[in-house]
Amino acid sequence: MSDPASGDPSSAASTLAQAEAKIAACDDLAALKAVEREYLGKQGVVAALLASIGDQPPDQRRGVGQRANALKQGVQQALETRQGALAEARVASQRRGEGFDATLPPPRPERGSLHPLTQVSRELEDLFQSMGYHVLDGPEVETDYNNFEALNISADHPARDSHDTFFCEGSGHLVMRTHTSPVQIRALAQLEPPLRVVAAGKCFRQESTDASHDHTFHQMEGLVIDREISVAHLIGAMKTLLRGIFHRDLEVRLRPGYFPFVEPGFELDARCPFCEAGCRVCKRTRWIELLPCGLVHPNVLRAAGLDPDEWGGFAFGLGLSRLVMLRHNIDDLRHLLGGDLRFLEQF
Ligand code: DAH
Repeated sequence: MSDPASGDPSSAASTLAQAEAKIAACDDLAALKAVEREYLGKQGVVAALLASIGDQPPDQRRGVGQRANALKQGVQQALETRQGALAEARVASQRRGEGFDATLPPPRPERGSLHPLTQVSRELEDLFQSMGYHVLDGPEVETDYNNFEALNISADHPARDSHDTFFCEGSGHLVMRTHTSPVQIRALAQLEPPLRVVAAGKCFRQESTDASHDHTFHQMEGLVIDREISVAHLIGAMKTLLRGIFHRDLEVRLRPGYFPFVEPGFELDARCPFCEAGCRVCKRTRWIELLPCGLVHPNVLRAAGLDPDEWGGFAFGLGLSRLVMLRHNIDDLRHLLGGDLRFLEQF
């Protein structure tokens, strides 16, 4: 090859001519890439030329720089022209029907599937509908009143600290709902008791994310209002729910839990469905913490205009994201909403 760094402009011109000849001889994109690398790559001819500038006598440097640029542009241009010509030739050959085999099956449209969160929500909605519950939907942007006040969480209530809330700018009273419990308030406003409802959807909290926390997660809320509702009804409904999820009867236990809108409030644990003697999922305790629940607080009933002496009820808040993780053995919550097809294609 001629030495374009020799300072001789005619040698640079012949380097370009050589490159152009190579490019014209390329029959496919892979060959073009190889020539591109040879001339324009990090270790290529142009890079070497530019690197040699420092070794030139000062009065030659400018000239070498200009020749390097001209070579680069010339090679780029020739590459583009050849690429265009190859593409045209390919289309022309396709038009002529070359390489077309009418006996091959047609390309199939890719098939999607329901997101695992949607699958679980729909299964549970079906289950609850079969027990006479209405399926409701609530907005993801809620009023402060529905998200907190009406749920017995007043403005200065310490429970607000545990809901790291996204407030909507400018509105003063709108928040990204921090739980699905405000749907309870909407249900009480819309429907006459006795009533049974479930509502699944997204909730939002200002969390630093890790394997078990995300700023967006899914819950399913349940509310039953009737006369003479007791903890026994709550336990019965929760056992039916668990049977629907895990397809067998699981022992449950209640621990006290504090949520301002229920009294008494509980954390319901279920026997670990994955082991007999302790495993990673139940952290060797044989119990998994599944859902907070309780009997509807009289203040919530009063705020809805119901007489707590006449009406009672129970409510629960199922963590759907956690349930999906349990069901599919998913180790990081962030996969659920990460939008990575390699993850989603598995369902
Ligand atoms: N909304 C609560 C939360 O996200 C969970 C909850 C607890 C819902 C008890 C309920 C309930 O309906 O009765 O922290």
